[in-house]
Amino acid sequence: MNSPVTFVQEGSIGLIRIDNRPVNAVSPRVVAALEASFAEFEERGSLDALVIYCAGRTFVAGADIAWFDSSDFNPQAYNRLLARIEASERPVVAALHGTVLGAGLELALACHWRVAEPGTKLGLPEVKLGLLPGSLGTQRLPRLLGAGAALGMMLSGAMAGVQQALQDGLIDEVCEGEARAAGKASAQRLVATRAALRRTSALAAPVPPDGGFAQYVTDAARKPQYPARVAIVRCVEAAVERSFMDGEQVEAREFATLLGSATSKSLRHLFFSEREAARIPGLSDSTAPQAVRRVGIVGAGTMGGGIAMNFVNANIPTVLLDTTEAALQRGLDLIRKNYMASAAKGKLTAEQVEQRMGLLTGALEYTALADCDLIIEAVFEDLELKKQVCARIGGVAKSGAIIATNTSTLDVNVLARAAGRPERVLGMHFFSPANVMRLLEVVRGDDTAPEVLATVMKLAKAIGKTPVVSGVCFGFIGNRMLEPYLREMEFLLMEGAEPKQIDAAAEALGMAMGPCRMIDMAGVDVGAKVVIERGKAGELPADPAYRAVVRKLFELGRYGQKTGAGHYRYDGRTPVHDPEFSALARALGDMHGVARRTDISGEEIVERLFYPLINEGLRILDEGIAYRPGDIDVVWTAGYGFPDHCGGPMFMAEQTGLTKIAQRLRHYARVRGDAFGYWTPSSLLTRLAETGEPLSKWTRTA
Ligand code: COA
Repeated sequence: MNSPVTFVQEGSIGLIRIDNRPVNAVSPRVVAALEASFAEFEERGSLDALVIYCAGRTFVAGADIAWFDSSDFNPQAYNRLLARIEASERPVVAALHGTVLGAGLELALACHWRVAEPGTKLGLPEVKLGLLPGSLGTQRLPRLLGAGAALGMMLSGAMAGVQQALQDGLIDEVCEGEARAAGKASAQRLVATRAALRRTSALAAPVPPDGGFAQYVTDAARKPQYPARVAIVRCVEAAVERSFMDGEQVEAREFATLLGSATSKSLRHLFFSEREAARIPGLSDSTAPQAVRRVGIVGAGTMGGGIAMNFVNANIPTVLLDTTEAALQRGLDLIRKNYMASAAKGKLTAEQVEQRMGLLTGALEYTALADCDLIIEAVFEDLELKKQVCARIGGVAKSGAIIATNTSTLDVNVLARAAGRPERVLGMHFFSPANVMRLLEVVRGDDTAPEVLATVMKLAKAIGKTPVVSGVCFGFIGNRMLEPYLREMEFLLMEGAEPKQIDAAAEALGMAMGPCRMIDMAGVDVGAKVVIERGKAGELPADPAYRAVVRKLFELGRYGQKTGAGHYRYDGRTPVHDPEFSALARALGDMHGVARRTDISGEEIVERLFYPLINEGLRILDEGIAYRPGDIDVVWTAGYGFPDHCGGPMFMAEQTGLTKIAQRLRHYARVRGDAFGYWTPSSLLTRLAETGEPLSKWTRTA
């Protein structure tokens, strides 16, 4: 196997090239080969200087995240190598391009000079993985930038562009052309001018941040689920107050603790799951995605407008269609208003607002969609209406165009047939607000052609979404799992739990918002209509108490935040306890013979909300609706506010123990009765709980 690192000599300059695609991540192999190449430079005493650069799309973009889980993980060898590089008596130049992240930036910080191509981005994103920079980034960066700026970078994990980096002193030079050649020129110049070598670790101890560390510690400690933040502050404190060697020990200790933390394990799991979710089993590499140069959207409501913004933001001309001039104008006005709000916050210039609006064309006639490569229907969630719209789109779309439905619950196969060309149809389920939420459920119909799926997966990434493929079933992955969660929320309410109590228990677990607040915000009417439609289609259990609360709230016009009352009463946007709701829940409970209780604990609420949801997730896997457990975790963390520090419901289930979950479901079946199968463990859960086979390793065989 070729070495990932090579050394060459050009004149009096040595060049080390790292080539470990795709992103030149540092692995044990890279460390060993880099060490060997550096030794070669050390041995060739006649050389004047060294340049370290990378092949491919980027300089080193971090340590190999998979290495963290292996038994041979040991950052010490890399750290020792960085110390040797820094101690070199001859100049060592880091020639940077692409995304210089984590261990890559730490390597650059150990070099004496940093030159970067325009467009290079630099950062220490470890905090996003629940870690801290473990190769002396916490010690070198504050010495270079000052403690305040270094904390800003490490606590946010954000990347800096070259101009910012140059201004802050993170890099020394922005080159015009290619990094390798520029690195060589910089090295020659450093030699010619006999410039003193600047060793970051030997710089004076940084000054503390304005106002000291106390506020940083307090802020970081506010979110104990993310311990990396406090650890980073502690390391920078050590950089200010102690020697470099002492700081190194503090960093090593804190890093080791974080590496074993549940939060970091969860975040690392999600990092790989998100990337894995983009891979479609069985799709051959020869399935080339189509070009999407123009997009059409039918329905200029909030959803359609939000969807349109995604494409416009990615510089794709978009046609927005509605049936009346007034509706269309309202939609276009809303989009402009959203862009103006971004401009007011300084996120866009007035010119950019006009440029984006210029990519949007309003239309009233379907013929305006004839030259679109992708047409998405985003009309009201009503099967008959959507069938009609799909048929009309199918009537005008050019051959080869892709037709997508934004339905959140309806049968994509039925809509695909209505469009008249089922192989060109799939679901693109955006989440509200569609221009903000990361998740995109891509629903493959029975007949969806592979290239259609491949095109939409690629396009999703281009518009900044996190796509996950789902098969066709009620609610797809996310909303189907939401259903048992809401079912139990309602039973708990009828038994006497207050909305605040339920929300607090879910939020204590880490949910961005408890279920009662969530429904009130999304709209009780929206939720109720889904239940009512399912009821009409005969898809609900024969249980009169099923989702009785949402139906009652809908009947009473308590639609949530938008009408000032739902599960709560609203004081502006603030939910306040509403005795009227409590009375209503009690009356419903009485009507359906639900026994009142006063002993509902937070633990019971969590188990009853989440274990049925997990059970449904396992059914979804068994049925082949989702390809992998990680896909489900991505859906819930990217689209439903599930805490990323728990890794998603499937990851959490594994950590909790599938045997325990199966036991608790059976316990509730015993104490609550199981007339409608609410508490029956799915066959996959039962099997895994019995065999002990890990869910993370599970793949579908049938
Ligand atoms: N370790 C291991 N694999 C990595 C990696 C890392 N640090 N960074 C990226 N990869 C892999 C991805 O898993 C993906 O593999 P795949 O193609 O087999 O799915 C591939 O590199 C490309 O990454 P992707 O994220 O799809 O490409 P991108 O161009 O959108 O983004 C980065 C590139 C480097 C910006 C992004 O991958 C990233 O942020 N990586 C993490 C950087 C980081 O956190 N470094 C510090 C580690 S402690």
